[in-house]
Amino acid sequence: MRGGEAGRRPVLVTGATGFVGRALVPALLERGLAVRATTRVRSGDLDPRVEWVQADVTRLADLPAALQGVETAYFLVHGMASGRGNYVEAERRSAAGFAREAERAGVGRIVYLGGVAPRGRPSRHLASRLAVGEILRAGPVRTLELRASMIVGPGSASWRIVRDLAMRLPAMVLPAWARSRSCPIALEDAIRALVAALDVPLAESAWYDIPGPEVLSVREILEQVAALRGRSLPAIEAPLPHPRISALWLKLVSDAPWEVVRELVQGLSHDLLPRDDRYWALTGLPPRTRFVEAARRALAEDAGRRPGGVRGLVLGVEEALVDRLAPRQRGGAAPAPAPPTPHPRRG
Ligand SMILES: NC(=O)c1ccc[n+]([C@@H]2O[C@H](COP(=O)([O-])OP(=O)(O)OC[C@H]3O[C@@H](n4cnc5c(N)ncnc54)[C@H](OP(=O)(O)O)[C@@H]3O)[C@@H](O)[C@H]2O)c1
Repeated sequence: MRGGEAGRRPVLVTGATGFVGRALVPALLERGLAVRATTRVRSGDLDPRVEWVQADVTRLADLPAALQGVETAYFLVHGMASGRGNYVEAERRSAAGFAREAERAGVGRIVYLGGVAPRGRPSRHLASRLAVGEILRAGPVRTLELRASMIVGPGSASWRIVRDLAMRLPAMVLPAWARSRSCPIALEDAIRALVAALDVPLAESAWYDIPGPEVLSVREILEQVAALRGRSLPAIEAPLPHPRISALWLKLVSDAPWEVVRELVQGLSHDLLPRDDRYWALTGLPPRTRFVEAARRALAEDAGRRPGGVRGLVLGVEEALVDRLAPRQRGGAAPAPAPPTPHPRRG
């Protein structure tokens, strides 16, 4: 067991300033592990106990210093927000380079957090996430790929889209893709899965889904978030629009970066359901947090983080207006969530 053994080879967290990386670093430190973090730009918020190494995963020359002496390397980087049309190719090259350099540095294990494979044709972003997983798993260092659908927590791009939709549209016309189903997972459950990945037996590279405890449609997700704000969504379902058009519309209501909104919404045409829940059986750590609870916490933390200045003021006024104008839910309380839906078993 590596947890709790300080002074050993460090664990590397790439993407340490991102939504997931930012939450993973303290969880690893809490286990007494030595943590090295890489980002392209130094962040003022990094814990002083963390060793920071500047590294851009698209630049092979940066990788040896980042990977030197590392036991386990978390790959938590994506290029979707770059705005560059060729990010797919860049992601593939980065994954291949990372696997190669990890072997040279003697890394024992790579842990990659990717996305759930849809039943139908994946969007560009999801296809690229899956390709990164395949490349890492085919590489010389044993790789554990964990696949999540939406991770619910403050700062997650997919959560911000859902929150903004549910909170900001006083009269919502639900697009047809609102029927797509997934198993969103709370940030803390995803972090427990990632920490457990240090010790999961791994004779060869493998992937596992990490589903949250319920199967929910986009519509049910929006309804639960709206209800937490004391609203109900009008039950009008439009036959259109195609996710591509919806993304343009979402640009108007979400403060998530446009490049990310466009890519994520296109991934909603199909169900994003797990193949099974074997990872939870393997680790003995089933997800604890229902969607409504994770959403409640994320909303509370979002409120505490509202930006200052003019933007903060505008957001405050906007929220107050929506509160006055939006259709209210009788009683103003969140509905009791549906009971957890059991996940299928693979094989
Ligand atoms: N958020 C979710 O709901 C969700 C769901 C399923 C799977 N995932 C997976 O979880 C992983 C992390 O996602 P996230 O939501 O935490 O993303 P995020 O908040 O956008 O953070 C991305 C991180 O990657 C870093 N980064 C981007 N390009 C880089 C590059 N070229 N070289 C080095 N670092 C780079 C960024 O740091 P700098 O820009 O400072 O360098 C940032 O720290 C991804 O693999 C994603 O597919 C996320």
